[in-house]
Amino acid sequence: MGHGKLKKFAENETFRCLLQPDASAVLDKEPGSRELRLKDHAIKGRWGSDMFGNDHPIVLELGCGKGDYTIALALRHPEMNYIGVDIKGARLWKGAKYATEQALPNVAFLRTRIEFIEAFFGPGEVSEIWLTFSDPQLHGSENSRLSSPLFLERYRKFLRPGGMVHLKTDSRYLYEYTSAVCRANKLQVIASGTDIYRDGIQSFSSLSTDEITEIQTFYEKMFLEMGLSITYLAFTIDHDGPYAFPGDAFDHDYWLEAEGPRRSFSHQPARKA
Ligand SMILES: C[S@@+](CC[C@H](N)C(=O)[O-])C[C@H]1O[C@@H](n2cnc3c(N)ncnc32)[C@H](O)[C@@H]1O
Repeated sequence: MGHGKLKKFAENETFRCLLQPDASAVLDKEPGSRELRLKDHAIKGRWGSDMFGNDHPIVLELGCGKGDYTIALALRHPEMNYIGVDIKGARLWKGAKYATEQALPNVAFLRTRIEFIEAFFGPGEVSEIWLTFSDPQLHGSENSRLSSPLFLERYRKFLRPGGMVHLKTDSRYLYEYTSAVCRANKLQVIASGTDIYRDGIQSFSSLSTDEITEIQTFYEKMFLEMGLSITYLAFTIDHDGPYAFPGDAFDHDYWLEAEGPRRSFSHQPARKA
């Protein structure tokens, strides 16, 4: 590991706004078994009192990378609390350092695998979730997509009723997949757009969409420079579960073809769908 990374990891230990639990804080063994099971972290249900010192609504950015979006939203909305979640400590360092230096009271970061997210938040503790430029997992398991029924089931356990999920992505494949998940489960779509900087965003409620094009993440800026279209989808996940998979209602082959070779991050622009 490079010296720069080690330095960031050491500095990460000093940031009060950054929670970096060991896996053992959320995983233990079933009695009499070697199987690991998820257990609640001590902060679950206590973010307001223990981290922020208030009961303002909490918004998560899952896969926040360097935390640009988390910070930009937090600066605009001091009446809300924002938590950026990612597994990469060297990326989180940037956001956590900025939040610490600027003494931002409404920003926190959590270093964990998003697969463990329900160990950290109690019922109704979260008001909104942002998925920003998540890996579309074109060739991996559907269950590893952050908008798959499996992940929605996790979010449902802590998202308040009516709470929204926002997906902002350069991947038309992920946008179409997530739309198919919404249709399969009759989830209410609040706003959408397949090329938001060219055509804008269609809002089906009073949701104001201006700031969605005003704030850009690190990856978003990179994709825009590559000339890619950016999509946006907002929906609520009110549903008793279990969520249904879209199955054949999502045309995987068609959207994979439409996505083109770019998703390997080879910096080759995709063909437009
Ligand atoms: C393409 S980057 C986008 C980063 C940021 N949202 C942006 O737009 O600049 C995806 C991020 O998601 C994180 N990530 C992907 N899968 C994850 C998982 N299962 N758990 C935690 N973080 C994950 C990666 O570490 C990476 O920082």
